[in-house]
Amino acid sequence: MDISGPAKDNKPPYENAADVGCGTGISTKVMAPHFKHVLGLDYSATQIAEAQSSIKEPNLSFSVGQAENLHMIPDKSLQLLTVGTAIHYFDCKLFFKEVDRVLLPGGCFAQFGYNSYYHEPRNLAFNPEHPFNPEVLRKLNDVVVEAFETILQQDRYKPALAREDFGVEPPYKETESTSRHEMEMSYPSNIISVVGYLKSLGLWQNYCKENNVESEKLAQQFIEKLRNIMKEVTDKPDEYPLELCTAMYVILSRKPLA
Ligand SMILES: C[S@@+](CC[C@H](N)C(=O)[O-])C[C@H]1O[C@@H](n2cnc3c(N)ncnc32)[C@H](O)[C@@H]1O
Repeated sequence: MDISGPAKDNKPPYENAADVGCGTGISTKVMAPHFKHVLGLDYSATQIAEAQSSIKEPNLSFSVGQAENLHMIPDKSLQLLTVGTAIHYFDCKLFFKEVDRVLLPGGCFAQFGYNSYYHEPRNLAFNPEHPFNPEVLRKLNDVVVEAFETILQQDRYKPALAREDFGVEPPYKETESTSRHEMEMSYPSNIISVVGYLKSLGLWQNYCKENNVESEKLAQQFIEKLRNIMKEVTDKPDEYPLELCTAMYVILSRKPLA
Protein backbone atom coordinates (compact mmCIF):
# COMPACT_ATOMS: atom_id res chain seq x y z
CA MET A 1 0.00 0.00 0.00
CA ASP A 2 1.22 3.47 -0.93
CA ILE A 3 1.53 5.50 2.28
CA SER A 4 2.50 8.83 0.78
CA GLY A 5 -0.89 10.27 1.80
CA PRO A 6 -2.28 13.36 0.08
CA ALA A 7 1.02 14.39 -1.58
CA LYS A 8 1.33 11.75 -4.28
CA ASP A 9 4.76 12.99 -5.40
CA ASN A 10 6.01 12.49 -1.86
CA LYS A 11 8.91 9.98 -1.97
CA PRO A 12 10.59 8.09 0.86
CA PRO A 13 11.98 8.83 3.34
CA TYR A 14 8.52 9.80 4.52
CA GLU A 15 8.04 12.23 7.38
CA ASN A 16 6.59 10.73 10.56
CA ALA A 17 5.51 7.31 11.77
CA ALA A 18 4.76 5.71 15.12
CA ASP A 19 4.92 2.12 16.34
CA VAL A 20 2.48 1.53 19.19
CA GLY A 21 3.14 -1.38 21.58
CA CYS A 22 6.72 -1.33 20.32
CA GLY A 23 8.17 -3.50 23.10
CA THR A 24 11.95 -3.44 22.90
CA GLY A 25 11.78 -1.64 19.55
CA ILE A 26 12.50 -4.51 17.14
CA SER A 27 9.38 -3.61 15.14
CA THR A 28 10.31 0.12 15.24
CA LYS A 29 13.90 -0.32 14.09
CA VAL A 30 12.92 -1.72 10.68
CA MET A 31 11.09 1.53 9.91
CA ALA A 32 14.15 3.76 10.47
CA PRO A 33 15.40 3.81 6.84
CA HIS A 34 12.00 4.83 5.50
CA PHE A 35 11.01 7.80 7.71
CA LYS A 36 12.57 11.02 8.94
CA HIS A 37 11.30 10.23 12.41
CA VAL A 38 9.68 7.21 14.06
CA LEU A 39 8.32 7.22 17.60
CA GLY A 40 8.11 3.90 19.46
CA LEU A 41 5.55 3.80 22.30
CA ASP A 42 4.89 1.14 24.86
CA TYR A 43 3.17 1.25 28.24
CA SER A 44 5.93 -0.81 29.82
CA ALA A 45 8.73 1.41 31.16
CA THR A 46 11.03 -1.65 31.23
CA GLN A 47 10.51 -2.33 27.52
CA ILE A 48 11.10 1.33 26.66
CA ALA A 49 14.30 1.45 28.75
CA GLU A 50 15.54 -1.62 26.87
CA ALA A 51 14.69 -0.02 23.49
CA GLN A 52 16.45 3.22 24.46
CA SER A 53 19.60 1.44 25.55
CA SER A 54 19.86 -1.00 22.64
CA ILE A 55 18.65 1.00 19.60
CA LYS A 56 20.81 3.87 18.45
CA GLU A 57 19.35 5.06 15.12
CA PRO A 58 19.23 8.88 15.42
CA ASN A 59 15.79 9.21 13.80
CA LEU A 60 14.09 6.88 16.30
CA SER A 61 12.85 7.85 19.74
CA PHE A 62 11.04 5.84 22.38
CA SER A 63 8.63 6.89 25.03
CA VAL A 64 6.32 5.32 27.60
CA GLY A 65 2.76 5.71 26.36
CA GLN A 66 -0.63 4.08 26.32
CA ALA A 67 -2.25 3.06 23.00
CA GLU A 68 -5.56 4.46 24.18
CA ASN A 69 -4.14 7.94 24.81
CA LEU A 70 -1.59 9.15 22.24
CA HIS A 71 -1.51 12.72 23.61
CA MET A 72 2.19 13.07 22.74
CA ILE A 73 1.39 12.81 19.01
CA PRO A 74 -0.12 15.91 17.33
CA ASP A 75 -3.31 15.74 15.24
CA LYS A 76 -2.86 14.71 11.58
CA SER A 77 0.89 14.27 11.87
CA LEU A 78 1.61 10.63 10.87
CA GLN A 79 1.82 8.95 7.49
CA LEU A 80 2.00 5.52 9.07
CA LEU A 81 0.98 4.04 12.41
CA THR A 82 1.92 0.41 13.08
CA VAL A 83 1.00 -2.13 15.73
CA GLY A 84 2.96 -5.39 15.81
CA THR A 85 1.61 -8.32 17.84
CA ALA A 86 0.03 -6.02 20.38
CA ILE A 87 -3.45 -4.96 19.20
CA HIS A 88 -5.16 -7.83 21.02
CA TYR A 89 -4.16 -6.08 24.26
CA PHE A 90 -5.62 -2.67 23.38
CA ASP A 91 -9.01 -1.14 24.06
CA CYS A 92 -9.65 -0.61 20.34
CA LYS A 93 -12.63 1.70 20.77
CA LEU A 94 -10.36 4.28 22.40
CA PHE A 95 -7.31 3.37 20.34
CA PHE A 96 -9.03 3.79 16.95
CA LYS A 97 -10.22 7.28 17.93
CA GLU A 98 -6.58 8.14 18.53
CA VAL A 99 -5.47 6.47 15.28
CA ASP A 100 -7.94 8.62 13.37
CA ARG A 101 -6.83 11.78 15.17
CA VAL A 102 -3.07 11.35 14.58
CA LEU A 103 -3.09 10.03 10.98
CA LEU A 104 -2.87 12.43 8.09
CA PRO A 105 -5.71 12.09 5.58
CA GLY A 106 -4.57 9.25 3.32
CA GLY A 107 -2.26 7.93 6.05
CA CYS A 108 -1.95 4.20 6.65
CA PHE A 109 -2.74 2.12 9.72
CA ALA A 110 -0.94 -1.24 9.66
CA GLN A 111 -1.38 -4.11 12.07
CA PHE A 112 0.53 -7.36 11.93
CA GLY A 113 1.16 -10.29 14.20
CA TYR A 114 0.85 -13.99 14.79
CA ASN A 115 -2.30 -15.59 13.50
CA SER A 116 -4.27 -17.27 16.28
CA TYR A 117 -1.55 -19.40 17.80
CA TYR A 118 -3.88 -20.71 20.45
CA HIS A 119 -6.45 -22.30 18.18
CA GLU A 120 -3.96 -23.43 15.60
CA PRO A 121 -0.90 -24.44 17.53
CA ARG A 122 0.42 -26.18 14.45
CA ASN A 123 1.47 -22.69 13.46
CA LEU A 124 4.10 -22.79 16.10
CA ALA A 125 5.04 -26.36 15.51
CA PHE A 126 7.75 -27.78 13.36
CA ASN A 127 7.58 -27.42 9.63
CA PRO A 128 5.69 -30.44 8.33
CA GLU A 129 7.90 -30.44 5.26
CA HIS A 130 10.90 -31.34 7.34
CA PRO A 131 11.95 -34.88 6.52
CA PHE A 132 10.82 -36.36 9.79
CA ASN A 133 8.81 -39.42 10.26
CA PRO A 134 5.26 -38.07 10.76
CA GLU A 135 4.87 -39.83 14.10
CA VAL A 136 7.96 -38.08 15.53
CA LEU A 137 6.77 -34.79 14.14
CA ARG A 138 3.35 -35.25 15.72
CA LYS A 139 4.95 -35.97 19.10
CA LEU A 140 7.13 -32.85 18.86
CA ASN A 141 4.12 -30.77 17.92
CA ASP A 142 2.15 -32.17 20.84
CA VAL A 143 4.83 -30.95 23.25
CA VAL A 144 4.68 -27.43 21.78
CA VAL A 145 0.89 -27.52 22.10
CA GLU A 146 1.20 -28.75 25.69
CA ALA A 147 3.54 -25.84 26.48
CA PHE A 148 0.96 -23.39 25.10
CA GLU A 149 -1.86 -25.04 26.99
CA THR A 150 0.20 -24.74 30.17
CA ILE A 151 1.10 -21.07 29.88
CA LEU A 152 -2.36 -20.06 28.70
CA GLN A 153 -4.12 -21.80 31.60
CA GLN A 154 -4.90 -18.71 33.62
CA ASP A 155 -3.77 -15.93 31.42
CA ARG A 156 -6.07 -12.95 31.68
CA TYR A 157 -5.72 -12.44 27.95
CA LYS A 158 -6.91 -15.96 27.16
CA PRO A 159 -10.27 -14.79 25.73
CA ALA A 160 -8.50 -12.43 23.33
CA LEU A 161 -5.91 -15.03 22.42
CA ALA A 162 -8.55 -17.69 21.86
CA ARG A 163 -10.16 -15.65 19.10
CA GLU A 164 -9.94 -17.41 15.77
CA ASP A 165 -8.44 -14.36 14.22
CA PHE A 166 -5.82 -12.19 15.86
CA GLY A 167 -6.22 -9.16 13.65
CA VAL A 168 -8.84 -6.59 14.62
CA GLU A 169 -11.41 -5.13 12.23
CA PRO A 170 -9.67 -1.93 11.13
CA PRO A 171 -11.20 1.53 11.65
CA TYR A 172 -11.51 2.32 7.93
CA LYS A 173 -14.12 0.26 6.26
CA GLU A 174 -13.98 0.91 2.54
CA THR A 175 -12.89 -2.33 0.96
CA GLU A 176 -10.56 -0.65 -1.49
CA SER A 177 -8.59 0.89 1.34
CA THR A 178 -8.29 -2.23 3.48
CA SER A 179 -6.38 -5.35 2.60
CA ARG A 180 -5.46 -8.43 4.55
CA HIS A 181 -2.49 -10.67 3.80
CA GLU A 182 -1.67 -14.05 5.28
CA MET A 183 1.92 -15.17 5.28
CA GLU A 184 4.15 -17.63 6.99
CA MET A 185 7.50 -17.01 8.62
CA SER A 186 9.84 -19.83 9.39
CA TYR A 187 12.99 -19.74 11.44
CA PRO A 188 15.88 -22.15 11.63
CA SER A 189 15.68 -23.63 15.07
CA ASN A 190 16.45 -26.56 17.38
CA ILE A 191 14.76 -27.85 20.51
CA ILE A 192 16.72 -25.45 22.74
CA SER A 193 15.78 -22.37 20.72
CA VAL A 194 12.14 -23.49 20.41
CA VAL A 195 11.87 -23.50 24.19
CA GLY A 196 13.92 -20.26 24.32
CA TYR A 197 11.29 -18.70 22.06
CA LEU A 198 8.44 -19.89 24.30
CA LYS A 199 10.30 -18.53 27.33
CA SER A 200 10.59 -15.11 25.71
CA LEU A 201 6.79 -14.76 25.44
CA GLY A 202 5.03 -12.46 27.87
CA LEU A 203 2.52 -15.28 28.37
CA TRP A 204 5.24 -17.59 29.68
CA GLN A 205 6.62 -14.91 32.00
CA ASN A 206 3.13 -14.05 33.35
CA TYR A 207 2.38 -17.71 33.94
CA CYS A 208 5.62 -18.21 35.90
CA LYS A 209 5.13 -15.06 37.96
CA GLU A 210 1.48 -15.65 38.79
CA ASN A 211 1.98 -19.31 39.63
CA ASN A 212 5.32 -19.00 41.37
CA VAL A 213 6.93 -21.31 38.84
CA GLU A 214 10.66 -21.12 38.17
CA SER A 215 10.99 -20.25 34.48
CA GLU A 216 14.21 -22.21 33.93
CA LYS A 217 12.80 -25.30 35.63
CA LEU A 218 9.69 -25.23 33.43
CA ALA A 219 11.89 -24.70 30.35
CA GLN A 220 14.02 -27.72 31.26
CA GLN A 221 10.91 -29.89 31.62
CA PHE A 222 9.83 -29.08 28.06
CA ILE A 223 13.39 -29.41 26.70
CA GLU A 224 13.59 -32.85 28.29
CA LYS A 225 10.31 -33.95 26.69
CA LEU A 226 11.45 -32.72 23.26
CA ARG A 227 14.88 -34.28 23.77
CA ASN A 228 13.42 -37.70 24.50
CA ILE A 229 11.41 -37.58 21.27
CA MET A 230 14.40 -36.33 19.26
CA LYS A 231 16.51 -39.21 20.56
CA GLU A 232 14.37 -41.46 18.36
CA VAL A 233 15.96 -39.82 15.29
CA THR A 234 19.37 -38.48 16.33
CA ASP A 235 22.12 -38.88 18.90
CA LYS A 236 22.53 -35.06 18.97
CA PRO A 237 19.02 -34.06 20.00
CA ASP A 238 19.89 -30.54 21.18
CA GLU A 239 21.55 -29.43 17.94
CA TYR A 240 19.46 -31.28 15.37
CA PRO A 241 18.13 -28.61 12.95
CA LEU A 242 14.41 -27.93 12.92
CA GLU A 243 12.23 -25.24 11.51
CA LEU A 244 9.76 -23.27 13.56
CA CYS A 245 6.84 -22.14 11.48
CA THR A 246 4.55 -19.26 12.37
CA ALA A 247 1.53 -17.95 10.47
CA MET A 248 1.32 -14.16 10.36
CA TYR A 249 -1.28 -11.63 9.27
CA VAL A 250 -0.84 -8.08 8.00
CA ILE A 251 -3.86 -5.77 7.73
CA LEU A 252 -3.42 -2.43 5.99
CA SER A 253 -6.07 0.26 6.03
CA ARG A 254 -6.04 3.83 4.87
CA LYS A 255 -7.66 6.88 6.39
CA PRO A 256 -9.89 8.48 3.75
CA LEU A 257 -8.54 11.63 2.10
CA ALA A 258 -11.61 13.61 3.05
C1 LIG B 1 4.25 -8.98 22.05
S1 LIG B 1 4.87 -7.37 22.37
C2 LIG B 1 5.19 -6.78 20.73
C3 LIG B 1 6.42 -5.91 20.64
C4 LIG B 1 6.79 -5.43 19.25
N1 LIG B 1 5.74 -4.65 18.62
C5 LIG B 1 7.15 -6.56 18.32
O1 LIG B 1 6.49 -6.77 17.29
O2 LIG B 1 8.17 -7.26 18.58
C6 LIG B 1 3.39 -6.49 22.86
C7 LIG B 1 3.70 -5.15 23.51
O3 LIG B 1 2.48 -4.41 23.67
C8 LIG B 1 2.62 -3.62 24.84
N2 LIG B 1 1.27 -3.18 25.24
C9 LIG B 1 0.23 -3.96 25.66
N3 LIG B 1 -0.83 -3.20 25.90
C10 LIG B 1 -0.50 -1.91 25.63
C11 LIG B 1 -1.20 -0.66 25.65
N4 LIG B 1 -2.48 -0.60 26.02
N5 LIG B 1 -0.53 0.46 25.29
C12 LIG B 1 0.76 0.40 24.89
N6 LIG B 1 1.48 -0.75 24.84
C13 LIG B 1 0.86 -1.89 25.20
C14 LIG B 1 3.29 -4.56 25.82
O4 LIG B 1 3.91 -3.86 26.89
C15 LIG B 1 4.29 -5.28 24.90
O5 LIG B 1 5.55 -4.67 24.92
